[in-house]
Amino acid sequence: MGVRLDGKVAIVTGAASGIGAAAAAHIGRAGATVVLADVESCETVVQEVKRDGGEAMAVRTDVARSDDVADLVRRTIETYGRLDCAFNNAGVEGMAEREIHEADEDAWDRALEINLKGVWLSMKHQVPAMLDTGTGGTIVNCASVAAMVAFDKNGSYVASKHGILGITKTAALEYADRGIRVNAVCPGVVRTPLIDRYTGGKLEAEARYTEIVPLGRMARPEEIANGVVWLLSEESSYVTGHGLVIDGGLVAR
Ligand SMILES: NC(=O)c1ccc[n+]([C@@H]2O[C@H](COP(=O)([O-])OP(=O)(O)OC[C@H]3O[C@@H](n4cnc5c(N)ncnc54)[C@H](O)[C@@H]3O)[C@@H](O)[C@H]2O)c1
Repeated sequence: MGVRLDGKVAIVTGAASGIGAAAAAHIGRAGATVVLADVESCETVVQEVKRDGGEAMAVRTDVARSDDVADLVRRTIETYGRLDCAFNNAGVEGMAEREIHEADEDAWDRALEINLKGVWLSMKHQVPAMLDTGTGGTIVNCASVAAMVAFDKNGSYVASKHGILGITKTAALEYADRGIRVNAVCPGVVRTPLIDRYTGGKLEAEARYTEIVPLGRMARPEEIANGVVWLLSEESSYVTGHGLVIDGGLVAR
């Protein structure tokens, strides 16, 4: 039967594409109602959830804007009456292929605002709604192996992902006594449009990413979604403040 989320209401940010889209579909199949948030259209994923027998809606949201995130949570409560789970996944790649002295300020601001401030703002607005349920909730933030180790020429991304792990652990401490568990997933290299933007779809460029992975291949988004659903569910009831590495062995080196 697998891990279940029956009767739960879940928000997924960055749900239009890649890991977020796979997680939203998987959360729906596990029995939760899904609210999909993104700056892009989530209609295809909403239809996928419904085709699989689930319930879903999309709310256009820029996670770097407090008003947007507040509206996302307000509309979730208005429509479905509660909020139990959140996967705060929206993210961008940052100043790829630039050393610190070459990188520009706008690229730094964009990565920090979307990746890190976006996760903080999401939790800021989600936590009160979860406390209102009276039964707590579960939050999973999307970090990266770049929260565990550094990669050169990508400082804003590495800094934002280290920050996500920090704010995840902080939130875990703050809400443990009120029934909200907060964890992160730390994916390695996952085949999504984000990675395609790094590699330009070129085999040679892809090989540079896969050769550092002991399992010898990129992850499928569904392989990250499995970890997300487990962390959102009761199956992980004693886990909080954890960064779950799903990386084919990349950081074991
Ligand atoms: N692909 C990988 O190898 C990999 C590895 C580790 C971590 N991650 C993380 O996984 C998450 C998802 O990445 P992905 O690989 O699926 O990329 P993706 O580009 O396929 O999906 C990211 C989604 O986030 C959305 N988004 C971007 N800015 C937003 C904003 N301001 N507000 C709301 N939505 C916004 C995009 O529109 C897109 O739908 C990111 O946080 C990324 O850093 C990815």
